Amino acid sequence: MRIATVVGARPQFVKTAVVSRAIEEYNSGCYGPKIEEILIHTGQHYDGNMSDIFFKEMRIPKPNYSLGLGGGFQGAMTGRMLEHLEQVLMKVKPDAVLVYGDTNSTLAGALAAVKLHIPVAHVEAGLRSFNMNMPEEINRILTDRISHWLFCPTATAINNLRQEGFKDCCCEGHNDANPLLAIVGDVMYDAALFYREIAVASPGIASLIHRLGKRQFYLATVHRAENTEDATALAGIFRALNVLAGKIPVIMPLHPRTKKNIYGRRLEIQNINIVDPVGYFDMIVLLENCRGVFTDSGGVQKEAYFFQKPCVTLRQETEWIELVTSGYNVLAGADYDRIIAAEKDIATMTVKLDEMLFGDGHAGEQIVKLLARLIPEG
Ligand code: UD1
Ligand code: UDP
Repeated sequence: MRIATVVGARPQFVKTAVVSRAIEEYNSGCYGPKIEEILIHTGQHYDGNMSDIFFKEMRIPKPNYSLGLGGGFQGAMTGRMLEHLEQVLMKVKPDAVLVYGDTNSTLAGALAAVKLHIPVAHVEAGLRSFNMNMPEEINRILTDRISHWLFCPTATAINNLRQEGFKDCCCEGHNDANPLLAIVGDVMYDAALFYREIAVASPGIASLIHRLGKRQFYLATVHRAENTEDATALAGIFRALNVLAGKIPVIMPLHPRTKKNIYGRRLEIQNINIVDPVGYFDMIVLLENCRGVFTDSGGVQKEAYFFQKPCVTLRQETEWIELVTSGYNVLAGADYDRIIAAEKDIATMTVKLDEMLFGDGHAGEQIVKLLARLIPEG
C-alpha cells in the first residue's frame, strides 16, 4: 500500500522522522503487505537550518518531491500548495495521505487529497486553542473535518473532537461520515525519547552551554504570528527577556520571521544570546541543560516538559492545557509584567513527569499499525 506524506515546516520534520522510522520497522517485520511511503516537502520552510538539517540529523528519507513553495501571504501560500499537491497526488495515486499538525502545508495536503477522494490521516488531531485569529486553529479545524483517521495525542484532544460532534466508532465501523478517532500518544514524545540518546550538540552550542554553565540559562523561542506581527506584543516580550537576561543568561535560537520583525522594527536586544535557528540535536541538548523555557511554540512547550523543565508560554492560551493544569506551564501572554512575574513562579520549580500524559513513547508504531489495518488498498 502506498501512503503520501505531506510535510513542509520544521515541527513536521520532527514528527515525520518518528513515523517514517516506524514504517521502516513495520516493513522489516512480517506484519503484512509492505507500506511504501512517498514523502512530499512543500518547501514552506526552506533555509538549511529550518529544513535540511532535520533530514540529515534525524535520517529522514530524502523527499520524493520538493515543491519549493515557501513564502508569501497565508492564502497565496496555501493556494500554491493546493495546486501543486493536487498534481503530485494525481501522479502518485496513493491509497492515503498523511498530514501532521496545523500548518498551511497540513491544510493544503488534506484538502488536495480529499478533493481527489483519497482518505486523509491527521496526526495531532483534535488540538484546539479556541482562538480563531490563529492561522493554525483554522488549519486544524478544517483538517480534522475532512480527515478519515484522526490520531489524537492526548485525552484533551479526543474530548475536543467529541465536543464538536465527532463520534467514537470501532476500526471496522468508521466511514466518510464517521471518521475513526484514536488516542495514540504524541509522536514528539517518541522523538524526544529516541533522539536524546544520540543527540550531540554542535561545537558552537556546546561551547556556549559550557561558558554559561548547566542549568544557568533559560532557553527562549518566539515565532508565532500573533507575537511577531504585533509591534506591542513583540516589544513586550523582548523588553521582558532583556531584563531577565540581565539576571540569568537567555539563549534564543531566532526564527527568521522574528529576526525580520525585530530588525524591521528596530527593537533593542540587550543581554540575550541570540543564535541562528538550531538543529534538533542542539535543541535537545539546550533543553537538557537549561533551567527553564520561555516560548510561544507548541512543540517546545511539550519538550520543556519532556526534559523536565518549567515553561513560561508567551501566549494567551495553549492547546496543551494539561501542562498548565499541572502547574508546570505558566501562561504569560506577551505582557512585560506577567512574563517577569511568571519567571518568579518557575525559577525554582521541579517538574515531575507523568509518563502517560503524552502516551508511552510508541505513538509512531501505533499510527503505522492502525494505518496498515485501516487503509483500503487501491
Ligand atoms: C509556520 C506555521 C506555524 C509553525 C511554524 C513552525 C503556518 C500558518 N504557520 O509558521 O504553525 O508553528 O511554521 O516554525 O503554517 N522564513 C524564512 N526561511 C524559512 C522559513 C520561513 O526566511 O526557512 C521566513 C519567511 O519570511 C516567511 C516567514 O518566515 O515568509 C514565515 O514563514 P511561514 O512558514 O509562513 O510561517 P512560520 O512563522 O514559520
Ligand atoms: N526547534 C529546533 N530548532 C530551533 C527551534 C525549534 O530544532 O531553533 C524544534 C523544536 O525542538 C521542536 C520543533 O522545532 O521539535 C518545534 O518547531 P516550532 O517551534 O518551529 O513550531 P511549533 O511546534 O510551534 O509548530
